[in-house]
Amino acid sequence: MRFIDECLKDIKDRGLYREFKFLSGPQSKYTLIGNKRVLLMTSNNYLDLCNDVRLKDAAEAAIRTYGVGAGGSRLTTGSYELHDQLEKKIADFKNTEAAILFNTGYMANIGVVTAIADKEWILFSDALNHASIIDGCRLSGAKIVVYKHCDMEDLRKKIKAYEGKKRCIVTDGVFSMDGDIAPLDKIVELAKANNLLTVVDDAHGTGVLGNRGTGCVEYFNLKGQVDIQIGTLSKALASEGGFVAGSKSLVTYLRHKARSFIYSTALSPATIAVSLCSLDIVKSEKDRRDRLLENTKWFQEELKKLGFHVLESNTAIIPLIIGSAEKATKLSEKLFEKDIFISAIRPPTVPDHTSRLRITLMATHSREELKYVLNGLKEAGMELGMI
Ligand SMILES: Cc1ncc(COP(=O)(O)O)c(C=O)c1O
Repeated sequence: MRFIDECLKDIKDRGLYREFKFLSGPQSKYTLIGNKRVLLMTSNNYLDLCNDVRLKDAAEAAIRTYGVGAGGSRLTTGSYELHDQLEKKIADFKNTEAAILFNTGYMANIGVVTAIADKEWILFSDALNHASIIDGCRLSGAKIVVYKHCDMEDLRKKIKAYEGKKRCIVTDGVFSMDGDIAPLDKIVELAKANNLLTVVDDAHGTGVLGNRGTGCVEYFNLKGQVDIQIGTLSKALASEGGFVAGSKSLVTYLRHKARSFIYSTALSPATIAVSLCSLDIVKSEKDRRDRLLENTKWFQEELKKLGFHVLESNTAIIPLIIGSAEKATKLSEKLFEKDIFISAIRPPTVPDHTSRLRITLMATHSREELKYVLNGLKEAGMELGMI
């Protein structure tokens, strides 16, 4: 089909062509790409649990007991007792009355926003919200009012300008490509003062932020003050699946209304067993979060000294802004030659002219490994005339 070929050519011409890098081994701080062993600096496996033996054992045991496929959607034949256990465990972890599982964080965002909002609603959405929130907002048919990224004055003005009975603020907790944390305390304040609903997608905060690792609501000490908390089990928790945590009535409502929940086969027993186990690990191994935070602080300071444009972030997501898509790809390739894997993130995932290397740290990266990366970045940056 000609239009496809033309589109792909255009994507290539603009330096935006995407290709897979296939992993041929387990994912930890090192991984294998073909036969090449690389230091992985670009995964959301923040706590380095993807290859944890306890999680693998949990998956294996669940397969032996329950088999592999879920066989149907949750409302037909796909609800296992494990799903119930996990939903209760997530609610307990997030300190809410109840929780409901979705197959991915993407599906949770789409499901929630389309279940609550329709054309009578006004949705105030941060300019850098994740694609799944944006898609949910669009699909809902609601009026979407985008406010400047984390700009509370802009949000306040827009709330005043768009009056209506049914209004909601929807935001990422931690922004996936910038790594900064939404000012949730201020968002909640504005929402309360103006009688708006709050929806927070804490995909990157879950398992990482707060003393107990439960996410940005705990980080800001906002227990019971955010109406709808969304999250994913696919990042720090090293598993798969999205969830929504909130009141019992919200969860019951979503069971009846969220189409991405209703019309999709349930997560498999092995996946659920992994999530159950990793939640226990997150609760009991605070040292992983502590080490991640130490690594983050240290690495960010050192990275700034190199002279790159690094965005200020207080999470393990550290964006190194390059600008041009071609240059970002070149830097990523140069690092790969040095056995360091950091993905280049380009439009449309990030705004035009802000292509970047999205560096992410793990709790288990050692100082020596991080120094190796800094040195690699320095050499590659100099070779390419970027610093
Ligand atoms: C902020 C945010 N929300 C939602 C998602 C989607 O989660 P999942 O990968 O479980 O679909 C992601 C990442 O993929 C994300 O970064």
